[in-house]
Amino acid sequence: MISYKELGLVNTKEMFAKAVKGGYAIPAFNFNNMEQMQAILQACVATKSPVILQVSSGARKYANQTLLRYMAQGAVEYAKELGCNIPIVLHLDHGDSFELCKSCVDMGFSSVMIDGSHLPYDENVALTRKVVEYAHKYDVTVEGELGVLAGVEDDVKAEHHTYTQPEEVEDFVKKTGVDSLAISIGTSHGAFKFKPGQKPEIRLDILHEIEKRIPGFPIVLHGSSSVPQDIVAEINHYGGRLKDSIGIPENQLREAAKSAVCKINIDSDGRLAMTAAIRRVFTEHPEEFDPRKYLGPARDKLKELYMHKIVNVLGSNDKADCGCEGTK
Ligand code: G3H
Ligand code: 13P
Ligand code: ZN
Repeated sequence: MISYKELGLVNTKEMFAKAVKGGYAIPAFNFNNMEQMQAILQACVATKSPVILQVSSGARKYANQTLLRYMAQGAVEYAKELGCNIPIVLHLDHGDSFELCKSCVDMGFSSVMIDGSHLPYDENVALTRKVVEYAHKYDVTVEGELGVLAGVEDDVKAEHHTYTQPEEVEDFVKKTGVDSLAISIGTSHGAFKFKPGQKPEIRLDILHEIEKRIPGFPIVLHGSSSVPQDIVAEINHYGGRLKDSIGIPENQLREAAKSAVCKINIDSDGRLAMTAAIRRVFTEHPEEFDPRKYLGPARDKLKELYMHKIVNVLGSNDKADCGCEGTK
């Protein structure tokens, strides 16, 4: 058993309280490898933003949970080397069982998500409660989810959104003791969030209704990539074949971040940015075969994307309370 506190990580409690009060959201960026981790840290240090590093089940399968945890531990030192002691959370994204959440708590994660959103309400409550009881013993914070996002989530495919029912949130939060709640208001995972011709719009009305029921309680938005069209065009220009990829408009996310939404999950946009950079190198320099020559530019593009998100969408720049000079 290792506590995240020994690793220099923090849980989400103080971070979320400040974000809700300050009208901004913390970036929750997924990582699977070193370049993604470096880009996240470089962007967050450059903008003095707190950060949540997310590990999904897919990331665990791909890169190994232990390696990822050590990378996050290294991230704390790396941030200091880059010049700023920003607050860093290591979070399990879409935990699907008590055992998995427990194992993450035991190995130094500071935050876990238990995603019981596909279960009947009472089962979701019971599972989430069980995780909370364990995690809170070690001061690890817990994210639960109510409502189902359309698309593929935890290998379960949902054709349509099941929006979070505002009438349920108060009861869920009270019975489970969760520290934050992920809701379904029209976002979805991946790069194809809306059909062509469909208006890309999230249900801010449901968000505001939820906020009224649990004032000031930290809300999380999954599936919040915006699928930047310039990046999609670059991918296609350099031989990619992405058709009809549409994301959540950034101005709607900015609006949500001003409310009790205090954690916004972004993964797909990062995947797109890396792909565009790598395709460009492969097309323009077909003689290159050193991975650093294409992963390096991918890392730079990722950093640029994340800085843009932090400053122009989430508003978490200069919120690290690190004591060093801000970006303003
Ligand atoms: O929630 C989904 C995240 O984008 C992680 O995706 O399971 O393919 O790693 P993944
Ligand atoms: P995107 O696929 O929209 O980036 O969402 C990521 C996410 O919600 C991770 O949990
Ligand atoms: Zn998600």
